[in-house]
Amino acid sequence: MLLRFPDGFWWGCATSSHQVEGDDVDSDWWDWEQVPGHIVDGTTSGAAAMWWNGRAEDDLATAAALGQNAHRFGLEWSRLEPSPGVFDLTAFGRYRAIFERAHELGLATMVTLNHFTLPRWAAEAGSWAARELVDRFAAFASRCAATLGDVVDRWATLNEPNVLALMGYAGERWPPGTGQVGAFAQALANMLRAHAAGYRAVHDALPDAKVGIVLSLPSFVPARSRRSDATAAAGQDWMFNGVLLAALDRGRLLPPLSLASKRIDGLARAFDWIGLNYYGCYHVQFDPTAPHRAFGRHVDVGNVKTDTGDWGAPHPLGLTEQLVRLSRFGVPLFVTENGIYDNDDRARPQYLVDHVRAVHRAIARGADVRGYFHWSLVDNFEWAEGWSTRFGLIGIDRDTQVRTVRGSAEVYAGICRANAIEEGA
Ligand code: FCB
Repeated sequence: MLLRFPDGFWWGCATSSHQVEGDDVDSDWWDWEQVPGHIVDGTTSGAAAMWWNGRAEDDLATAAALGQNAHRFGLEWSRLEPSPGVFDLTAFGRYRAIFERAHELGLATMVTLNHFTLPRWAAEAGSWAARELVDRFAAFASRCAATLGDVVDRWATLNEPNVLALMGYAGERWPPGTGQVGAFAQALANMLRAHAAGYRAVHDALPDAKVGIVLSLPSFVPARSRRSDATAAAGQDWMFNGVLLAALDRGRLLPPLSLASKRIDGLARAFDWIGLNYYGCYHVQFDPTAPHRAFGRHVDVGNVKTDTGDWGAPHPLGLTEQLVRLSRFGVPLFVTENGIYDNDDRARPQYLVDHVRAVHRAIARGADVRGYFHWSLVDNFEWAEGWSTRFGLIGIDRDTQVRTVRGSAEVYAGICRANAIEEGA
């Protein structure tokens, strides 16, 4: 049987500015990459996929030829505002050209204002630990909305604030590399303030804009059928997912983000849609030595991982469950990222099919899902992992910039063109 998706469903891929554009020389990530040891395989973003220097249009044309009808982009704050309050009109023009071309190709545009990277000046002023960045972000959002509003179909404020807070503030693997448990809450609170301020700023410039936020909500499941594992899994879900959803719902920071419940002005329900990034699930085992991780540690059950990165175990049911969980907010939902690190494209076709079916199951259970974006269209610079972990439907040879359309891209094309997928076993 064919599982059909709603008419007008968005099928596309997601990319972020820093990961594909290349020569992103005024950003915090560019500086971070130059320090030996920060990027596991010793690579840097370098020319990336050369989207800034002309290749975006070619890759988008390939996406359109593969049946896709939408693309999720990121804007690079450091290009658009290279010093505080100074905006680069040429850079705005380059984004306009890319988004216009996307429209000509029949691709709807979803644009994330900030996908992890900060301008160098913002990093020097304290990154997201600094409350002042909130107003700066709002001013940036306002300028982007005013300048690009006619070529952007949907706006997202931030990408995965919880992941950034974990990796760069509680952890040391991403800039600014703070490495203090308490820095997680501080950075996340400021990002939530920035989201609320950005949401308002885009709406002030464009009253009818559709503004959302992109969240990473992995599944946490008990490793064994023991109450202690279940409690630890539920605790991790609360610390990483639940507390964030509660903040967006009620406009309040709850423990452990704040010792006592604390209000953030303008945050409650400040979203017109929600984006879900979903890669997999973590199996959680009780660990009495890990109070800061809700007394849980992750066990490997065939996770997609490297020595340093772990995207969890493929678990399509978790995608269905997280979409159904989000549906209580009563706004349109998008899968804004889903994909797998799979350098030889062996696992990706099945992963893709299983997860698209999982999206359909969520729709059948009442979730108002409007689109699916695979991560990613092309191989790109995967943060602290560098270039060793390939996520693209299209492979890139970094030295020659030659593209190779992988088998999974054709599998996805069949789904996009049919707006449907076979039910399967
Ligand atoms: C997500 C990020 C994205 C990419 C994928 C693999 O957490 O949003 O930039 O790195 O993981």
